Amino acid sequence: HPLDKLNTFGIAARAHAFLPVASADTLRRVREADELARLPRLVLGGGSNLLLTRDFPGLVLHMCGKGIELLGSDDTATYVRAAAGESWHGFTQQTLALGLPGLENLSLIPGSVGAAPIQNIGAYGMEIKDRFHELTAFDMETGRVFTLNREACRFGYRDSVFKHGLGEHAVILDVTFALPKQWQPNTRYADVTQELEARGIAEPSARDVSDAIIAIRSRKLPDPARIGNAGSFFKNPVVAAEVRHALAERHPQLVSYVQPDGSFKLAAGWLIDQCGWKGRKMGRAGVYERQALVLVNHGGASGAEVEALARAIQDDVRERFGVMLEPEPVFV
Ligand code: EPU
Repeated sequence: HPLDKLNTFGIAARAHAFLPVASADTLRRVREADELARLPRLVLGGGSNLLLTRDFPGLVLHMCGKGIELLGSDDTATYVRAAAGESWHGFTQQTLALGLPGLENLSLIPGSVGAAPIQNIGAYGMEIKDRFHELTAFDMETGRVFTLNREACRFGYRDSVFKHGLGEHAVILDVTFALPKQWQPNTRYADVTQELEARGIAEPSARDVSDAIIAIRSRKLPDPARIGNAGSFFKNPVVAAEVRHALAERHPQLVSYVQPDGSFKLAAGWLIDQCGWKGRKMGRAGVYERQALVLVNHGGASGAEVEALARAIQDDVRERFGVMLEPEPVFV
């Protein structure tokens, strides 16, 4: 089964077997069919955080369950559940249309609802963990459906319990969000402040914030429908304060953000840009001309070509700044 249209990098690869999954029933049947249960598995949502480096010799489970449900509210929040196969951006827009603010800062992030908690997607001063209530998942080992609350998900920067073993056998079916009753716009991010100012909006609604962020992202990030990519290709590295101070002495322009624990997050895009990679090509892969943190497929690139480019960038950044960049997408 071809996977070309199922990964936003637009890489040509095939799966040995492929199954659309709309509910836990399909997963139960996979468990019970020996020849399917034995195959290596890849759970696929929107395919926007994935680098396919070769054909997949196993079973791809394509999560395509749909549905958005208003569960009710209490004093603090309104609870909304979305099936794993819903588009993330589509879901944010539907909650806004229902008059429920809270997800506006996460507008236009590619991918699906079911994939969003795995790497705790985030942008413009918000992460999914800030609005997360609970999720339901199917355990391929036990055949049981279980629920995880926020604590159990152990969310971190582009990280969750699913990246530490649980993702090997748990398949997310739906996610419930708690959207705040007492809503305040979060416009602390400089890009957002500036965009709203340029639009002459002093007291933005959630719709205004969403529109501003859609405009910012459309300017900075390539549309995967036109240029294959998986968003930021590397995480922003977190380093100890001493490391950051030593670097800032040698590179006064260094972009870094202090973290609650006193460590610093460095702007990987800046580090890559400084090494001269912005807009460069290597084979059919390249670095996006407007955001050095985004690797792109200029057409017909293989996963191996993108991987080679990523390695070259990692080597340069390590040599020049002594910092190791860690890829954000999952390599398959
Ligand atoms: N910068 C450069 N050159 C570049 C790119 C960036 O000098 O080519 C500098 C910018 O001037 C800025 C700093 O680096 O001072 C940070 O850049 P930006 O605000 O564009 O954000 P980012 O750190 O590159 C992160 C997330 C994005 C998210 C934005 C906005 C990660 C890995 N990436 O990018 O998330 O949209 O902040 O909040 O944390 C994604 O994960 O796929 C993603 C796009």
